[in-house]
Amino acid sequence: MAEVVIVESADAAGELAAAAIERLVRTKPDAVLGLATGSTPLTTWRALAARGLDLSRVRGFALDEYVGLPPGHPESYRAVIAREVVEPLGLTPSLVRVPGDEGPLKLAGESYERAILEAGGIDLQVLGIGRTGHIGFNEPGSSLASLTRVKTLAEQTRVDNARFFPSIDDVPMHCITQGLGTILRARHLVLLAFGKAKAGPIAAALEGPVSASTPGSVVQLHPRVTVIVDESAAARLAHADYYRHAWDNRLDWER
Ligand code: PGA
Repeated sequence: MAEVVIVESADAAGELAAAAIERLVRTKPDAVLGLATGSTPLTTWRALAARGLDLSRVRGFALDEYVGLPPGHPESYRAVIAREVVEPLGLTPSLVRVPGDEGPLKLAGESYERAILEAGGIDLQVLGIGRTGHIGFNEPGSSLASLTRVKTLAEQTRVDNARFFPSIDDVPMHCITQGLGTILRARHLVLLAFGKAKAGPIAAALEGPVSASTPGSVVQLHPRVTVIVDESAAARLAHADYYRHAWDNRLDWER
């Protein structure tokens, strides 16, 4: 079962996620992080930056990227990761990969998977969840065993992400994303969600049936998942009282 932590605010969640990353990096300075974009992980990156750790040896693999934006576009995830993660955290740019950043697109999924394996696998993968229930850009219908590949974005996702573009017509139609199988291979998943729009997707992912129709539900198959949600995103969790009870009574070695 996942560890589900219900906190007061996105800032508090960011502190917990940053603490998990700090624990990892203190024991493994060249740890491999799976990097998510979007609004959700911003408090984590901020809290981590404030810790002042030396992260120059950390290696990073972005979860996903748009397909079809011109190189250097400010909303490409390559650019977003550079601006919001690499620079503030002091990561080394050459140690951070984004899917599709090398070679022909057709082969990019395979080469990304190979690069992750060659790095020794992802130690800790930060995840958000979309309103469609996607993790990464794995929209409903994604195989639970899928690896990095090109996908078509759901219209809902394009609508949600239009806030970063002049208009919805500028939001790409396609993306390249780590698959659900890729995500399952990471050693520790940290799934974050805030706000009432995420209450349905989080309840479905954690407490509904495991199904390709609910891509986030794949986390139920993973042995080590930490879910950190605020009260609004936790609103539809049937077992919220138990999660609070388990967290309040966690053992010393879990702290
Ligand atoms: P958000 O996106 O963090 O901007 O809400 C999450 C997602 O789409 O995975």
